[in-house]
Amino acid sequence: MIIAVDGPTASGKGTIAKALAAHFGLPYLDTGLLYRAVGRQTQLSGGDPDNQDDAVAACRFNNILLHDPSLRSEEVGGLASRVSVHPAVRAALFEKQRAFAEQPGGALLDGRDIGTVIAPEADVKLFITASVQERARRRWLEMQGREIEIPLAVIEQDVAARDARDINRKDAPLKAAPDALVMDTTSFDRDQAIEAAIEAVSNRLER
Ligand code: DC
Repeated sequence: MIIAVDGPTASGKGTIAKALAAHFGLPYLDTGLLYRAVGRQTQLSGGDPDNQDDAVAACRFNNILLHDPSLRSEEVGGLASRVSVHPAVRAALFEKQRAFAEQPGGALLDGRDIGTVIAPEADVKLFITASVQERARRRWLEMQGREIEIPLAVIEQDVAARDARDINRKDAPLKAAPDALVMDTTSFDRDQAIEAAIEAVSNRLER
């Protein structure tokens, strides 16, 4: 069984994806981390994330980088969004994601294009979303927890800019697959979102 979870930044898709993977006993891949590693490696190599050749060279990052806490930062999220517009970067990361999706026993992947490009044959596709304001608020709270002081308005701008780049890129843009279940988590807390997602997936599997 393959479960695809897509959605914009800070929609809650990572939290939901991890909970679904644990509930249904599936191995989990956060595909955003791969793009974050490419963004960070481009920076470490002194390359330009907007230059396709520099970003493609960075796709040969050492897997140890995937465990680097810096990958979780806002800055690296922005770099990831920039390198992810290059078709050759997406092609370079395709096989890794495909192999994960095809493993015996199934898998759960989260990202932007899992239900549309990486695993269009997925048994269940969820598209998780929430308003820009609410996603910015969640990110701001998370940063407060890490004692990082950034004004909410700046985060809101960043979230909107990231959405625009992810939605408007030509290759594999962020969008719900036609057969995806769309879940808006704006008014849900963490537990409600997880519960609703488990129920939605269970219902879909019963059909
Ligand atoms: O999910 P995330 O915030 O870690 O993703 C960071 C960036 O990586 C996101 O802004 C766009 C890109 N990305 C992508 O293009 N395709 C994916 N499947 C996952 C992430």
